[in-house]
Amino acid sequence: MAFQSQRFASLDELWNKLEQKTDRMIDQMGGKSPHVAKADGVYDDNPTDAWTSGFWPGILWLMYEMTGKERYKEAAWDWDRKLEENFVRPSNFHHDVGFQFLPTAIVKYRLTGDADAKRIGLEAANFLAGRFNLAGRFIRAWNNVKGAWHEGNDGWAIIDCMMNLPLLMWASGELGDPRFKHIAVAHADTALANFVRDDGSTRHICCFDPETGEFLHALGGQGFAPDSAWSRGNAWALYGFSAMYRLSGQQRYLDAAKRVAHFFIASVEDDFVPLWDFRVDNRSGAPRDSSAAAIAASGLIDISKYVPAGQSGLYLQAAERMIASLTDRYATWDTPEHEAILLHGTGHLPRGANIDVSLIYGDYYYVEAVSKLKGWNCHMF
Ligand code: GLY
Repeated sequence: MAFQSQRFASLDELWNKLEQKTDRMIDQMGGKSPHVAKADGVYDDNPTDAWTSGFWPGILWLMYEMTGKERYKEAAWDWDRKLEENFVRPSNFHHDVGFQFLPTAIVKYRLTGDADAKRIGLEAANFLAGRFNLAGRFIRAWNNVKGAWHEGNDGWAIIDCMMNLPLLMWASGELGDPRFKHIAVAHADTALANFVRDDGSTRHICCFDPETGEFLHALGGQGFAPDSAWSRGNAWALYGFSAMYRLSGQQRYLDAAKRVAHFFIASVEDDFVPLWDFRVDNRSGAPRDSSAAAIAASGLIDISKYVPAGQSGLYLQAAERMIASLTDRYATWDTPEHEAILLHGTGHLPRGANIDVSLIYGDYYYVEAVSKLKGWNCHMF
C-alpha cells in the first residue's frame, strides 16, 4: 500500500501544496522564531535560546535541499549565527542544542560547506558534551531556573535527549575523535536501561543522584504520571533510538526503537494520531498531539529501512497512515492565512500550557516525513 490521501491525488500534489505553504510562511514569519500558534493562527516569536528555535530554519533548509530553490537557502542562512549569539551572553541553552543546531549549523555545513557553520556546530557539540554526568552516565537535561517547576534538577535526564545525541555523533565523525560518540553511547545506554519499559512505553524524566549517579525515581514531567506514557516522549524515543542505531550500528538501539514503535502503533487512536498521553485516566475529551504523530511517522520511515524486507511494511504503512491522517484531518490547507501547517498539538498539558495548538516541531517533522516519503534520504537528526 502506498501513501493515500483523500485530499491529494498524489504525493507530488501534496508536495506542491507544501511548497506553496512554505512560501507563504516565509512572508508571514518575517524574522520570528516561532513555537506556538493558537486559535488566531499567528505564530508567536520566541527568544532564540528557546529549544524550538531550530525548527523553522530546519523547514527552510529541508525545502532548499528538496527543491534547490535559492529563496529557501536565503531565508535559512543566518539562523545558526543568530542562535550562536546565545553562547556569548546569559542564556538558557541546555541539552536541546541538538534540536537547535542540527537543523541549522550542521545542515548548513553539509549543504554548503560553510566553515563558520561547522565551527558553530562543534561549539554546540562541546557544550552538549559538557553536560555529561560521569557518575550517572547521562546528559543533564535542563538548567536550574529559580522558581521554575523543574528547579533542583542537577540529576535529571529526559527522554527527549535521545534526539540531541546525533549532534555528538556528528562531532566525532567530523573530528575523528571518539570522545563525543562515547558520551552519546553512554547516555543512550542509560536511557535504554532506565526510560524504556518492557512493554515499549517510556518514562519522561528520570532523576539520578548527581553525586553518585544512583537512580532515584521517575517523574511524570510532560506526561500524565510517572508510570504513564507521554506520547511525544514515546515518539522522541522511537526516533532517537532509531537514529542512534543508524549512527552507531548497535543492534540494541534498533531493537529498542522497534519495541517503542510497537507500543506507539498499538496505542494510537482510530485516526492514527495519539492522545497527548497514552495512559490518561479519562480518555473522553482528552486532547490529541499531532506533533507526536509527525515525529513518530518520520522515525517509523527510518525504521522501515533498517529492518529486513519482510518486516518493513509494518513500520512504513503505519507511518503512511499517520501522515495521511495529518494531511487530511489536521492541516490548515483551507485556511491559508493560518501560519502553521498542523493543528491539534499539545505542548505541556500538566502545566496547562499550549493545549490544542499548532507547534512548530509538529510542522517540521511533518515536512520531514513527507520529504522522506518523496525519497529524501538524508538526515538532520
Ligand atoms: N522537548 C520538549 C517537548 O517535547 O515538549
